[in-house]
Amino acid sequence: MSVRLSQLPVELKIAISCFLLAMGYAYLFAQINLQVNTRKADGDATGLATIQDIVVTYHGDRSQTLLGTKINGTMREHLPTEEDKIAIEQWIKNGRTEEEYLEIVQQLMDAYCTNCHPYGDRPEYPLETYEQVYQSAEPDRGPSIGKLAKFTHFHAFGMGVFAFLLSGIFTFTSFSPPLRYFGVVLPFLSIFLDITSWWLTKLVSPVFAYAVYLAGLMTGVSFAVAILGSLYDLWIRTSTVES
Ligand code: HEC
Repeated sequence: MSVRLSQLPVELKIAISCFLLAMGYAYLFAQINLQVNTRKADGDATGLATIQDIVVTYHGDRSQTLLGTKINGTMREHLPTEEDKIAIEQWIKNGRTEEEYLEIVQQLMDAYCTNCHPYGDRPEYPLETYEQVYQSAEPDRGPSIGKLAKFTHFHAFGMGVFAFLLSGIFTFTSFSPPLRYFGVVLPFLSIFLDITSWWLTKLVSPVFAYAVYLAGLMTGVSFAVAILGSLYDLWIRTSTVES
């Protein structure tokens, strides 16, 4: 390849630089979005996103259920005594059997819950039968396969195009070939590692949350290399000696 970034006409240099800066912004705000939203996942919204946030985001917090969370949260006021609440929690802990439901939980639901569920502000959330209440106390398994598949599709597509454009520009820098190959491949490697690790965290083990974290760092580094390296070549590098 004989054309190098430093040899381009200045209008094209400006256009490419603006594009690189816009991509830098896109990435920056993706990070801010991640930090602001994902860090709340484990219920602790202070500091940066942690491994535990990633685990909860993809694998779910299996010790939590919607029913259990609600009777300790916004639905607490509808249960008159602490014993009622503990009785429901105990039923969840004991494996949600139908016997215990009929014996203890059903009367609590009928007394305090079913006047609003199904017909409150949440008509979609009935709590009238054993099956319905059982469902409401399913352990939190994170996003459904369908939801994560959809997210993966958008993300892989968008990030793939993003990485290709950045890598494509970086190939026209004058860095030595090993560094250029590395700069070109790293963004794609990070994206593959990132997405694969989401699925492994969801389906196999929370341990893979560390790989998600690592891939996130790698993505950041690879984009920074491509963007800053290309800007360096466009405006700072002067010697263009290379065939
Ligand atoms: C006065 C009406 C009312 C009563 C009584 C009531 N709820 Fe609710 N419930 C709501 C509303 C409104 C929401 C949606 C807002 C929210 O999630 O806080 C809701 C949400 C829920 C949800 C989450 C549903 C979802 O789609 O996310 C659960 C579970 C729940 N309630 C359980 C209960 C239980 C158990 C009781 C009885 C102890 C109860 N509710 C009593 C009105 C009520």
